[in-house]
Amino acid sequence: MRPWTLLGLVVFLLVEDGFAFKDHDFKNCSQSGFCRRGRALAARAKEAKDAWKSPYSLVADSVTVNPADATFTARVKSSLYPGIKFGLELRVHHDGVVRVRMDEIDGLRKRYDQAASWALIAEPKISETIRWTAGKKDIRAVYGAKKEIEVVVSYEPLRVALIRNGKEQVVLNGQGLLHMEHFRNKDGQEGGDGAAQEVLKAENPPPREWFEGDKEDDYWEEKWISWTDTKPKGPESLSLDITYPNHGTVYGIPQHATRLALPTTTGENSFFSDPYRFYNADVFEYLASSPVSIYGSIPVMHAHSADSTVGIFNAVASETWIDVSHASEKSTETHWISESGIMDLFLLPGPTPEDIFKQYATLTGSPVLPAQWALGYHQCRWNYMTSDDIRSVQKRFDEDDIPFDVLWLDIEYSEDHKYFIWNKKNFPDPVDMVNDVAALGRKMVVIIDPHLKRTEEYPVYQQASERGLLVKPSNGEGEYEGLCWSGKSSWMDFFNPNAWDWWKSLFKTQSLPGGAWSWTESTEDVHIWNDMNEPSVFNGPEITMPKDSIHYDGWEHRDVHNLNGMLFSNHTWQAVYERSDPPKRPFVLTRSYYAGSQRFGALWTGDNLGTWEHMAVGIKMTLSNSIAGMGFVGSDVGGFFGNPEPEMLVRWYQVGAFAPFFRAHAHIDAKRREPYLLEEPYKSYVRDILRLRYSLLPVWYTQFRETTVTGMPIMRPHYVVFPKDKNGFDLDDQYFIGSSGILVRPVTEKGATEASVYLPAENQPYYDYFNLNIFRSTTKGKTITVPAALDQIPVFIRGGSIIPTRERPRRASTAMKLDPFTLRIGLSKDGLARGELYLDDGESYDHQKGQLIWREFNADKTSGKKVKKPLLRISSRDMASHEPEAAVDGVSLKTYTPENSFAQSISDVRVERIVVAGLNKKPKSVKVDGDDGELIWEWIDGVSAGDKKEGESSVLIVRDPKVLIVKDWSIVIE
Ligand SMILES: *[C@@H]1O[C@H](CO)[C@@H](O)[C@H](O)[C@H]1NC(C)=O
Ligand SMILES: *[C@@H]1O[C@H](CO)[C@@H](O)[C@H](O)[C@H]1NC(C)=O
Repeated sequence: MRPWTLLGLVVFLLVEDGFAFKDHDFKNCSQSGFCRRGRALAARAKEAKDAWKSPYSLVADSVTVNPADATFTARVKSSLYPGIKFGLELRVHHDGVVRVRMDEIDGLRKRYDQAASWALIAEPKISETIRWTAGKKDIRAVYGAKKEIEVVVSYEPLRVALIRNGKEQVVLNGQGLLHMEHFRNKDGQEGGDGAAQEVLKAENPPPREWFEGDKEDDYWEEKWISWTDTKPKGPESLSLDITYPNHGTVYGIPQHATRLALPTTTGENSFFSDPYRFYNADVFEYLASSPVSIYGSIPVMHAHSADSTVGIFNAVASETWIDVSHASEKSTETHWISESGIMDLFLLPGPTPEDIFKQYATLTGSPVLPAQWALGYHQCRWNYMTSDDIRSVQKRFDEDDIPFDVLWLDIEYSEDHKYFIWNKKNFPDPVDMVNDVAALGRKMVVIIDPHLKRTEEYPVYQQASERGLLVKPSNGEGEYEGLCWSGKSSWMDFFNPNAWDWWKSLFKTQSLPGGAWSWTESTEDVHIWNDMNEPSVFNGPEITMPKDSIHYDGWEHRDVHNLNGMLFSNHTWQAVYERSDPPKRPFVLTRSYYAGSQRFGALWTGDNLGTWEHMAVGIKMTLSNSIAGMGFVGSDVGGFFGNPEPEMLVRWYQVGAFAPFFRAHAHIDAKRREPYLLEEPYKSYVRDILRLRYSLLPVWYTQFRETTVTGMPIMRPHYVVFPKDKNGFDLDDQYFIGSSGILVRPVTEKGATEASVYLPAENQPYYDYFNLNIFRSTTKGKTITVPAALDQIPVFIRGGSIIPTRERPRRASTAMKLDPFTLRIGLSKDGLARGELYLDDGESYDHQKGQLIWREFNADKTSGKKVKKPLLRISSRDMASHEPEAAVDGVSLKTYTPENSFAQSISDVRVERIVVAGLNKKPKSVKVDGDDGELIWEWIDGVSAGDKKEGESSVLIVRDPKVLIVKDWSIVIE
């Protein structure tokens, strides 16, 4: 968020002299020394064409193959600097992922090498069966069930290729842009061993200009506006080209406000003129179409073709720029330029998107299972100003029967922006206030930022300072000071392990022994929002911390910048986890993040604008985050800045209701826009959308279980579900909700009355979710146009799906625990369907001990007890005890029994309605299998799933079959 408080305004005017995104607040590539050098290198290579040859080669006689596993090491040298040594190491993991690491050996200084250790959940297991075979010109490993994968490391020039079925999937240094700038001394002395010095002294040092350029471009100091980056380590950037010779589409590298299929940044007709940038930043009023860096960085890229998908994870934490281009429609070249750090790259061989998600989740973890209430609707604004304001917002929602689960407090709850400390004038009774919200089954989320006001009256700052837990300025002495919400502030350094336990203790709601400060004016119903964790520094270069600031262990901020946000939300998450015994699932929302942040909760796309463009790009951004592992994601409903008109607000609720994280938020200058303030019919439209969200909570929750185990995203773009359907590769305005079979195409166009929707290339019916009208796709795919008036959202059930819903309107999700279910069944063209339902208590960790239910529903034609060939048999069975791999939150369900006490607590919960769309003829009878009594049912004639026709589908409605959700049952339709 950004200022309009008085302090904020002053600061803002000082640093930005304007009110909208200004290019000049942030560097473009040509203003960043190492990016300029990297791009210039690429330009020289392009100019030289075939004459270009990488100076890097692998020293053949240095290859050392580990006899026990799939690892080898070798020395790499550059013909430009014969005395400088680089070490290369390749490992093939047990799942076929290849890790490529390169670092300078015996250099003058040390490159930062810990980015991966923060991102990874554990040291990956190396294959003990795959072996490297060293030859004269290359070293290779061949593996896979059919020996279809080959990794070839060529010696001269150094080149790494991952090949599948003879086709190159991903190639490193194929364009010869690899350049690891070695450490050197400012006086012109080379680093490295004596040989380098010899070469220097020799008459004819090897020419370097052709490769490095003819001047030391910003090697030792970099000035920008009024800032000087002292660069004490000198140049240490890393340039690397990563090419996908057989993949024409690339996705990922969030967060950027752009399309899911990444537009080009170089080459003819490039879409953007600058590379994509990773340098987590608080970009005020970010543009809705731009490669500039915003709040988070996940250096993960998927390259896709109808043949295969391949991925890379480049574990680098420093500022990084990425150029994307296509030499042909079928290939993609990318060029990664990082300011510092070792090369530590993971090649994810695929070959399907599903495989990539699994391979990536094995490295960095899956999203954790959130508390169920966190999937409800969150109401936020900057700011609810008093505790009575909070109470009145809650009351107004309830008076209008509009459901919500969480009320939020932005920075103004705190006294002088000293987080944790209540402003007692406005919030005299914080614990009572929270209890009033919690009494209705709801929660609160309160903001805690990483900047600490530098005053002796602030115990949190005081203690952090005494313990030496704050980031230091470039000279390494004292505490770095900058301006943020709290005025003169210092920043927590979560790279310091001594900060961890102390930070966790702050969140304890009881008093601590020895008088240590803890948040006694809080309760277990308070969860946390971590904002400004890029970190945002109002008077710093690019609104962040100077790169030469010093973190724990002497690392410069430059080396760790993009990790900063993740470490903060991690430790807040751990703090909330540990504050109660037994622990409850924390909810922590973060703005800044890195690969691995999915383990610590939810993300939102930051300070968007109340415009149609931002609404639309928000969907693309959430998709891009989703495929890079950050599954619990959403954009602020309404847009942070501005005053959306009712039409826009209604559409925005429709978008939000179909995102995993669903929150409305507004700037302090924006007019109040809680849904109860809307005029009719808008208010009713929004109420209906919220009720729709709540009715679908079982679907969302079930999909979350899946992502905690498989890493498959919850918001699933077309290429993930239909990897061979080329028509879907560029689609990013419609998507599936996990494997539920729900397809949604939110409307983000002003004045729309209809919308076009692409039905994927499969011969299946798709049912309008609301009226069950059938549309048919074909094996070539089909675009349809559907009505989309303001109260309509194009939502479809893919033929073959069973959707479990809870359709009784309630004020909050916690009030739905004993509600009955409806099953909505859209039959496939063959008259079949399947679905799943996962439930647990929604907030404890008992699910990891088997306190849960996980059901599978099937609609098929298998015989019943009495009926041999039914028209349809709808059944429910226990998945948790049948699936050999059953798990949740990455924990196997070995201790599960169907009689667990959670299951018993919902033993009366029943199915109150079954709706079957697309049955081919009117039944004669509908009975619970084995019972004689006829159930109550109703039939509406219409098109069947197997017909060729479109239009109103046949519908069978079975009323209150009274079958229980925790029991196996089947209903036989004759
Ligand atoms: C980069 O920014 C500078 C200063 O604002 C500007 O002159 C230059 O045109 C920009 N370059 C690009 C490629 O946008
Ligand atoms: C998260 O915090 C724990 C300690 O609470 C620490 O061991 C772990 O390394 C941290 N991970 C990240 C990514 O910060």
